Amino acid sequence: MEKQIKIGFIGFGNMARAMADGLLKGGAMTGENMCACAKNRERLAANTKSRGMNPCEDARETALWSDMVIVAVKPYMVENVLMPIRDILKDKIVISVAAGWPFEKYEQLLLPGTHHLSTMPNTPISVCEGILICEDHHSLSEDEMDIFRRIFSKTALIQMVDASQLSAAGTLAGCGPAFASMFVEALADGGVKQGLPRDVAYRLASQMIVGTGKLQLETNAHPGAMKDAVCSPGGTTIVGVAALERRGFRSAVIDAIDAIESR
Ligand SMILES: NC(=O)c1ccc[n+]([C@@H]2O[C@H](COP(=O)([O-])OP(=O)(O)OC[C@H]3O[C@@H](n4cnc5c(N)ncnc54)[C@H](OP(=O)(O)O)[C@@H]3O)[C@@H](O)[C@H]2O)c1
Repeated sequence: MEKQIKIGFIGFGNMARAMADGLLKGGAMTGENMCACAKNRERLAANTKSRGMNPCEDARETALWSDMVIVAVKPYMVENVLMPIRDILKDKIVISVAAGWPFEKYEQLLLPGTHHLSTMPNTPISVCEGILICEDHHSLSEDEMDIFRRIFSKTALIQMVDASQLSAAGTLAGCGPAFASMFVEALADGGVKQGLPRDVAYRLASQMIVGTGKLQLETNAHPGAMKDAVCSPGGTTIVGVAALERRGFRSAVIDAIDAIESR
């Protein structure tokens, strides 16, 4: 349990709440060591109270209170919100989750010497199964990076990438949950069509995804080999694989990533 570090969220919307939930669930932080600010005070009060966190007046109070500041406002607001508090951020660990805000862009905005790291989390961080894409170019000290890793590795797989890979990595990890959810829904629809109760079908489909992902991560097996291992000659699974191939399953997924990246 990290007792000494205080974390403040500037912006407490979907992503910040998912991160706070993961930190609480993973035992990395207690609510009393976290604070947040947002625009709507009433909603902020409810969202912080339910997590045992401290509501703050504004970004200034949040930054003053915290050792580590998580920038979680919409990307177009980052400049306006941070510019007036740059002097305070100079002495903090600044972690950004804003899309399209890599290291170099923050270097233009923050005061020289500010310690900052640009990241891209995904929503499963709320249940400690997230991904935190981190730009490998950052200005955190080794100790600060250790603190960041110690805290957030309890909520997510931390993957360092080059700035040129931030977008593709963020798309895969950040948009992927939508694709995976569509796959879960489609699998369950297939199961329901064959007579499975809806809730059982969702449970089976979701756990199957969790288990397959975990197996790949733990064994580092090639996904093609994992597929082969389930397809016995003349068996049932290969019939399903062939049906998916006829519909262009894999190229449809590749096209989805291409479509996002070329948008
Ligand atoms: N959602 C995702 O899956 C995801 C994934 C990766 C990265 N991100 C990044 O996370 C950031 C937030 O996204 P989100 O989806 O969480 O958006 P969101 O739900 O709209 O949250 C934005 C938050 O900013 C607050 N805010 C607005 N003006 C503010 C101000 N002047 N000072 C302090 N807070 C202010 C809002 O307060 P009110 O609610 O009171 O208006 C809200 O709590 C974005 O930069 C996005 O790129 C999101």
